[in-house]
Amino acid sequence: MLIEKPSSLWKDYELIDSGDFSKLERFGKYIMIRPEPKALWHKSMSDSEWLKSAHTEFKPGAGFGKAGKEDSGSWNMLSKMQEQWVIEYGAVPFSLRLGLTSFKHVGVFPEQAPNWDYIYRVTKQCAAKNADGVKPKVLNLFAYTGAASLAARAAGADVTHLDSVKQVVTWARTNMELSHLDGIRWIVEDALKFVKREVRRGNTYQGIILDPPAYGHGPDGEKWKLDECLFELLTGVAKLLAPKNSFMVLNLYSNGYSAVLADTLVRSAFGFDRGLPKGTSLDYGELVLEDRFGKALPLSVFSRLARD
Ligand SMILES: C[S@@+](CC[C@H](N)C(=O)[O-])C[C@H]1O[C@@H](n2cnc3c(N)ncnc32)[C@H](O)[C@@H]1O
Repeated sequence: MLIEKPSSLWKDYELIDSGDFSKLERFGKYIMIRPEPKALWHKSMSDSEWLKSAHTEFKPGAGFGKAGKEDSGSWNMLSKMQEQWVIEYGAVPFSLRLGLTSFKHVGVFPEQAPNWDYIYRVTKQCAAKNADGVKPKVLNLFAYTGAASLAARAAGADVTHLDSVKQVVTWARTNMELSHLDGIRWIVEDALKFVKREVRRGNTYQGIILDPPAYGHGPDGEKWKLDECLFELLTGVAKLLAPKNSFMVLNLYSNGYSAVLADTLVRSAFGFDRGLPKGTSLDYGELVLEDRFGKALPLSVFSRLARD
């Protein structure tokens, strides 16, 4: 079981403090206070220190916590800041435009940084092993604003980025342009529908990345419910993943799913019940953010599969 956190060399992000169901974070030059249901402990700094340092604080709205409106609310401005700004991710050279959304998010999930590093590294390895400089094909499902797509593209992959929401795909395209990258294939579609179609077409990918939410829907109203749809999606992914020189990253951040659950799901979907085939490696773990006071906040779990 691996426990991974973003490198302290990433200058544009820091979890400063956490506690009392909130987190105090810095994204580039701006500091914000956001709700954090997992921060069950007390803050290390005082309330007044939090308020003095923050530029803005997210205030949950009336529907906060209710299905479909889980994260809705508004931002209370505490000092002057821009509505949109750009941060850099140093370990892999890409940039992300951030902005305050009405759903408490700013356009990046910083705990994902170790996944970006992994994707960058294995994509490079796949590319190096391909004959005649053929680019590895990488599929990013539930791809949001595209950090994982940028990591794969920066490593030389031919990337297909899929999300069901047109606005976030446009946002991801902005991030590609800001990062001086090009050539990503953009798809606005339901992830499960796309995977089933690709399986029927007999297509394969050398890399598949998926970070599905608890609930969601496709552009034509297709319902996504993690508990009910994930295993079916993974069995499709198992068919789409190239049998050699390939990798898969599954990230799960909702429903309290554990890392062992991610591992068992992948083993079952890929038919590894009787052990791993030769040349296959499988790891699982948790992604955490650690604040300045050493308090580790676990935010997601992952399973990573690699084939020689
Ligand atoms: C929390 S995000 C994933 C975060 C992303 N992997 C990252 O680290 O930047 C979940 C994404 O799934 C998308 N989504 C929800 N339901 C979907 C569906 N049925 N098909 C495709 N994408 C979907 C949402 O629009 C959202 O962008």
